[in-house]
Order: sequence, then structure tokens, then C-alpha cells
Amino acid sequence: MKFDTPATTNPIDQLKVIGKPTDRIDGPVKTTGSARYAYERNAEAPDAAYGYVVGAGIAKGRIASMDLSAARAAPGVLAVVTARNAGKLGKGDFNTAKLLGGPEIDHYHQAVALVVANTFEQARAAAQLVRIDYTRSPGRFDLSAEMAAAQLPKPNPFSGEPETKAGDFAGAYAAAPVQLDATYTTPDESHAMMEPHASIAAWKGEKLTIWTSNQMIAWGVGDVAKTLGIPKANVRLVSPFIGGGFGGKLFVRTDAVLAALGARAVRRPVKVALQRPLMMNNTTHRPATIQRIRIGATREGKITAIAHEGWSGDLPGGQAETAVNQTRLLYAGANRLTTTRLAVLDLPEGNAMRAPGEAPGMMALEIAMDEMAEKLGLDPVEFRVRNDTQVDPEKPERPYSQRRLIECLRTGAERFEWSRRNARPGQQRDGRWLVGMGVAAAFRNNLLTKSAARVRLDNRGMVTVETDMTDIGTGSYTIIAQTAAETMGVPLQRVLVRLGDSAFPVSAGSGGQWGANNSTSGVYAACMKLREAVASKLGIASGDAEFSDGMVRAGERTVPLAEAAGANGLVAEDGIEYGDLDKKYQQSTFGAHFVEVGVDAATGEIRVRRMLAVCAAGRILNPKSARSQVIGAMTMGVGGALMEELSLDKRHGFFVNHDLAGYEVPVHADIPHQDVIFLDETDPISSPMKAKGVGELGMCGVAAAVANAVYNATGIRVRNYPITLDKLLDRLPPVA
Ligand code: MOS
Repeated sequence: MKFDTPATTNPIDQLKVIGKPTDRIDGPVKTTGSARYAYERNAEAPDAAYGYVVGAGIAKGRIASMDLSAARAAPGVLAVVTARNAGKLGKGDFNTAKLLGGPEIDHYHQAVALVVANTFEQARAAAQLVRIDYTRSPGRFDLSAEMAAAQLPKPNPFSGEPETKAGDFAGAYAAAPVQLDATYTTPDESHAMMEPHASIAAWKGEKLTIWTSNQMIAWGVGDVAKTLGIPKANVRLVSPFIGGGFGGKLFVRTDAVLAALGARAVRRPVKVALQRPLMMNNTTHRPATIQRIRIGATREGKITAIAHEGWSGDLPGGQAETAVNQTRLLYAGANRLTTTRLAVLDLPEGNAMRAPGEAPGMMALEIAMDEMAEKLGLDPVEFRVRNDTQVDPEKPERPYSQRRLIECLRTGAERFEWSRRNARPGQQRDGRWLVGMGVAAAFRNNLLTKSAARVRLDNRGMVTVETDMTDIGTGSYTIIAQTAAETMGVPLQRVLVRLGDSAFPVSAGSGGQWGANNSTSGVYAACMKLREAVASKLGIASGDAEFSDGMVRAGERTVPLAEAAGANGLVAEDGIEYGDLDKKYQQSTFGAHFVEVGVDAATGEIRVRRMLAVCAAGRILNPKSARSQVIGAMTMGVGGALMEELSLDKRHGFFVNHDLAGYEVPVHADIPHQDVIFLDETDPISSPMKAKGVGELGMCGVAAAVANAVYNATGIRVRNYPITLDKLLDRLPPVA
């Protein structure tokens, strides 16, 4: 089905099932522990051996020698896979560094060996016996030191152009009566999902099956095939349950490829879970950024000039964090400049983490807006309202499909009792606490990407949906079931959803908050085709057929779906494909974040007291799962504001705090009252579902709202995340 004109009324609009706060249909298997994750596929691979990954002990250089004799002789060891004996390996499209390194080492903890043994303990013990001597080379580890050498990166489909200009930024900025020029930094961050990267690989002749934990099945199949040098048709990836991804599982990683190599070496299935202490340096992470923002405005608070320049680093051949991109779109202003620069760093690979680009970009931009509002003597809500735009400010001929940022801000201000905030910082006390409120806009683009599904109707009237879409904890199973139930006119209980298998039609996958809108649109397309098949079987025009309550009705005729399906059932496969609607219209999601914090006047300890997010993100397919997504995102935003930081050893080029003990993320006790409001809207430009994404929107802007609240509480402006108490301590107001 091609979606190239705005959606009109369709079966989804009945809203009998769609739009309801339905419990997760995968809830029971998750909460009873019977959902089997990649590492638990013992039934499919009962004879699996265990692989243990050895990571490089240097960041840059070569393996001078490797002594495997003690490891090979250790009890239970079946094989030790290294680059020397693995055969020729290619590199996947989505991997920057090789997943099996050696003799050249590209980054710290790059895998250099897989020890395979009968038990996990044997593999782990033998891995300690691998002896490696390295020759170190000098590496580039410090972004600030490499800033001057940074270059404009090559454009790619996700990042867009590295530099954009409109009008005359320099002239307009110089002439502006009110100016801000400030630099912000965000640290390297880790996805730190609960389930580590894990895979079981099994060969049957030339055919390889990998049960794995992966967000993007089709990308993964392609990259496994490329890396191993085998046809895609010989690779099957299965990933029905995923214990969190956050972008860290967009790509196949070491676990999958080494499990496949190990299984080939020992002629037995091999299971590999990436050890937690390897995760931060072996896999990808959100790269640190340095961001300079300049804003010029009239005294009335109209932005006349805005510039956002960003620097980040990655391995040779890697990509930039596009932290400046939302600044191309979010606020009005005739004179504009944005630039992304990329430095070469010999650190572990930088890549997508929840809302890549906007998450760190909004951390900077939305503090800058707060600073500017203060210079102007304007309320920060009002300053944003005055600079709203209903068109792409760089290309004014492109309107937004829908943009209700102002309504988000105003609704939130009222609900949060923003009027109680004292604009002068450091004024409000509650016992030992300095109390403050902060606001930030939320913004994340809405990406359209094709997505397919297969739908089957059987002679019991059951509808089965199959698509390689994944559910990374987001609720995909449930919204897909709701979509099929609504479109086919059956209760939710009559729908079965099977996900995450490369044997199924290729979906949008889970990434960039595009999963919900696109994957359900693909399911909708397949269901519409199935409706045609049902109608044609009954000899009625599909336009005349009405599907409801498990029946097809046409004129006087009413036929149960089970009967219409016939003995062999009916099956249809289709997908959604998009025309150029998203080129004609700018599609984004909007929101407003409000945060209240308390800062201990003596110790500088920061406690979030309450949070509110107001989101405008098209039709909300399931308010319950969408709310959970936003709450999770707000929580992650608090992590970004106050806690998360991969501590970099700049001499040796690795992240020191490489486990969950050292990498701090929020826990329940850190998170107080959270509230979410969705504006009631549909976006006919986004898809037949009229929906958009929320899973990343909910995070974008949160950290800045926290930072702005800390400023309001204390009068201390921290521009370097995370805002830890040491950055406040020597500047706190005197304790009375
Ligand atoms: Mo998202 S960072 O594209 O999983």
C-alpha cells in the first residue's frame, strides 16, 4: 500500500480497540518468566557449548603475540576462535570497527578471541589463560584536543547535511541587541540495558540460525551475511523478546558473530552473552559532544540569529552525533547556521542511543533558551512561544504536518502551576532545600520507513500477524494486535502476534521512535489486503464489506469470519510504502517538560521532586504503553541530567566505569511523581494510523528542564553534564 496522500477516514478510526489503554498482551509471559530471551533458547539448542569473549587490553596498536596453549589445554575447552583461525571476515554495513579484532586493535575491549567450552565456567576460566602481548600505538582519545582537527562528516540518510545556512547569521548576530554565546558539553553515555547482548548460533549445513537480541532484524541478517561471507538467504535471525536496546542493539555485535564462528569451529551450537564488564567498551555508546550555541534576539524576544555548532568523535570511518539538527527546525529566526564536525577518536564506537542527535542536542539548546529568556527578562515559556514557527525555518515553503508546541507549553504551564515559580533564582526554600522549577521544549523527528507484514485468517476466526518487527520492551506486540483487531473487526483476544523472525516480512524494526507508527501501518496494509481476500472469496465488493464483531457484513448478508476463511484459511501479505509526503511536510513530534528540583543547600545534592511531560505526537495508539514509554524516557532524561557518564581514561583510551556498579543510572528511589499528558490529536500526514512516535520524544529536553530547575533553585548555571553535586558545591548560596 502506498501512502502518498493524507489519510482520510479508514477502519482504524473506529477506535474500538485502537486508542484504548490496553494491557500488554506479552505481560503474562514476561511476568511469569516464560518469555524466552536469546540466551534461554535451550529447547532449540540443548547441546549448546558456551563462548566467552576476550577483549583487547589496549585501545590502539597490534597484537605482538598470542599464546593460546594454556587455554586450549584447560578443562572442557573445545576451541579458541581468533582472527588467525576464523577465516576471512568481512565487515557489516552497520559496524565501524571489526567485531573480531587482531592483529590490529581498533579500540579497547574489541573482541580478540572467543573461548568455547562445555560449560560457562570452563570457558571463563580458560579465557583467563589466554596470553596476549601488545604493541601499543599512540591514540587520539580526547575530543577537546581533537576539536581543531575535526571535519565536516559525509552526509548519510539519518544525519542529513553536516552544515546548513540561511540568511546572514554573522551579520544578524553582530547586530542583535541581546546576545548569548555559550558552550555546553555532554559526556559519553552507555545504553546500559538490562539484558546484555546475547546470542545462540547453530549451523545446519550451510544454514545458520542465530537466536539473538536485536532491534533491526533485516539489518542484522545483512550484516551477519557480509561479515561471514555467506548468502543472506542462509542466515536466519530470531529475536522475539529483547530486554532493552536503546539503540545499542540496532546492529549485530560481537556476541552474534562470534557465536556463529564458534559454532562453526566446534560443530555444535554455541551461546555467547557479552559479559557485563565488556559492554561499555566492546559495544557502541552515545558519543560525548561539545556544543556552541549563539542566539541573537530583539529586545522584544524575537530571535533574529541562531547558530548551533557541534563536535563529536568516532573511530575512523565512523559517524557524528548530529546534536545540532533540531536547531534547524525548532525555533523561528531568519538568519541561521548549524554545523556538525567529526573528530577521529580511537575510542569504542560511537553510535545511536535513544534519540541520537536530539537527546544531547536538546540538552544544550534548551539551556541556551533558558539563558536567553533570562537575559531578555522573559518567562522561558513565553520566550519559546514568541519564537514558534509553523514552517521549516530553513525552508519556509515546507510546513509542518502538525505542530502544537505552544499548546504543549501552555497546557504544561497550567498543570504544573508554573506561575508559582519565582523568576529570580535562589529564592525559594523548603527547610534545607533550595527549590526551583525548570521548563524545556521537547522535539524529535518522526521518520517514515517502509514496513511489511503477513496476516492469516484461519477457520477458527483467529487472525495471526507475522512481521520481523521487534518489541524491545516498548509494547509492539500490543499495538500490532490492536491494529489487526481494529482493521479485521475482531476482539483483541482473536489476534495472535508473532514478531522478531527474519522468516517474516521485513518491518521498520525498532529504532528512532519510528517503530510504532510504521510497523502498525504495515500491519494495517496487510489487513486491508486480507479484507479484500475475504470479500472476494464471498463474491462481494470489498468497499461494501463491513468487518465487525468477528463478522463480515454486506447488505443483508452476515458471515462469520471463521466461515469466510474456509477450511484452509486466507493469507495476505503487504506493506506500507511512503511517497514524498514527508518531503513536502516537515514531520516532527513536540512536547514540553516541566521539572521541579530540590537542591540541598549544604551538600548540593539534587533531588527531582516532580516532573510533567506534555506530548503532541499524533494519535496515541495505546495510552498505557505510550505513557510507559514517556515515563521511561523521562527517567532516562534524569539519568542524562544528573548521573550518566562514561568516565574516560584519556591516557589509555577506555571507559573506566564499565559495569552497572560504576555507571550510574536512576533507580526507583531517584524518581518521584511523574505525569504525562498527551494532546488529543491525529496527524493525517504521518500514515493511515495517523500516529507518530513518542518513545524518544519523552526524553528530549528532560535533562535541560532539570538543569534549568537547578539554576532556578540555586542561581548556578551548569553547562557540563552530568550535573553532579561537585559542580555546585563551591557556588552554593551561603547557608543562613
Ligand atoms: Mo534508537 S537509538 O534508534 O534504538
